[in-house]
Amino acid sequence: MARANKVVLAYSGGVDTSVCIPYLKHEWGVEEVITFAADLGQGDELEPIRQKALDAGASQSLVGDLIEPFITEFAFPAIRANALYEGRYPLSTALARPLIARRLVEIAREVGADAVAHGCTGKGNDQVRFDVAIGALAPDLKVLTPAREWGMSREETIAYGERYGLPSPVSKRSPYSIDLNLLGRSIEAGPLEDPDVEPPEEVFAMTCSTEAAPAQPELVSIGFEAGLPVSINGQRLDPVSLIREANRLAGSHGVGRLDMIENRVVGIKSREIYETPGLLLLIQAHQEMESLTLAADVLRTKRQLEMQWADLVYQGLWFGPLKDALDGFIERTQATVNGTVRIKLHRGSATVVGRSSSDSLYEPDMATYGAEDQFDHRAASGFIYVWGLPTRLWAAAKRRRGHHG
Ligand code: ARG
Repeated sequence: MARANKVVLAYSGGVDTSVCIPYLKHEWGVEEVITFAADLGQGDELEPIRQKALDAGASQSLVGDLIEPFITEFAFPAIRANALYEGRYPLSTALARPLIARRLVEIAREVGADAVAHGCTGKGNDQVRFDVAIGALAPDLKVLTPAREWGMSREETIAYGERYGLPSPVSKRSPYSIDLNLLGRSIEAGPLEDPDVEPPEEVFAMTCSTEAAPAQPELVSIGFEAGLPVSINGQRLDPVSLIREANRLAGSHGVGRLDMIENRVVGIKSREIYETPGLLLLIQAHQEMESLTLAADVLRTKRQLEMQWADLVYQGLWFGPLKDALDGFIERTQATVNGTVRIKLHRGSATVVGRSSSDSLYEPDMATYGAEDQFDHRAASGFIYVWGLPTRLWAAAKRRRGHHG
């Protein structure tokens, strides 16, 4: 029996998703495969990809520009959340998945499909993100995952495709697995599987090496309104242009590379190289803006919740209840996150050198060591008497116990 009649397949133009097309039709009896390729600013030509799906047997091949919602609905909330998985990875790949899933579901409704499909394997995080998102948005749609079930090696997959007229990848295939979009590039596999091997320069495309970066530092200022970046060097930019400009500036100074061992949802460690120049720069600037404009207890609480936000986005729970609840908290904190942060870019480093805000909680008359000092120094002694009381009592009791043995 056919697993589904009409399927919308998330399509990238790569070997796995291409082979999914004949596989769905010939092995699983699917009548119609409609492919969808998303433009997330990755810079690929989409027309050849569109044609490739038709050549592989798709009955309809759709492409869609999702760049703007990707930035405004996914990247910008991540900046407000200072989202860094395991303290480092700004989720450039992870953020795209719920958006693609949402669009797949919309298309499935438009064309009357009874299933959606993706070409993720059974070992990665992306399958989790797609499956959970689709399950939340459209519980009635089946999710077909050929690459998770077919059990073919790379060579067998290519050979299978050839049987159905798919050209085998012509040029000597890159040993790397690369995911890319406007926010960055994720690179793994090949020589990088050895965590002790330094990434060769050839894997990078958005950032220059520290060695090749200009000797002269460059100052950039980033303007924020309600926790969202709105300008660079005094120039107001729309969200997409702003990300592009941040990528260009940081990347040209070798800022934005990561080499990390991360813990995947499925329980294994993997080694991934990232370059996410603009996003890392903007998160750094946003954190700094908050340090000037948020009260201490709000800031500390937010820093803890940010880890949870990053975890749940990494783990595919974008459409879940915790995300919704945390967004409520974050939203509530951002009204005063306004102002400008100045950062110096130089040979792989980005250093904050200044920050200013009309909503600053920094009080010069309180902070100064000069004559204008308004802080009541004498008030400190009563505070410290009370503050230290439990510690003194405990230490005294410990001494007494010590004396009695
Ligand atoms: N590890 C990253 C994540 O889970 C990226 C996954 C895709 N990486 C790749 N090289 N194809 O978000």
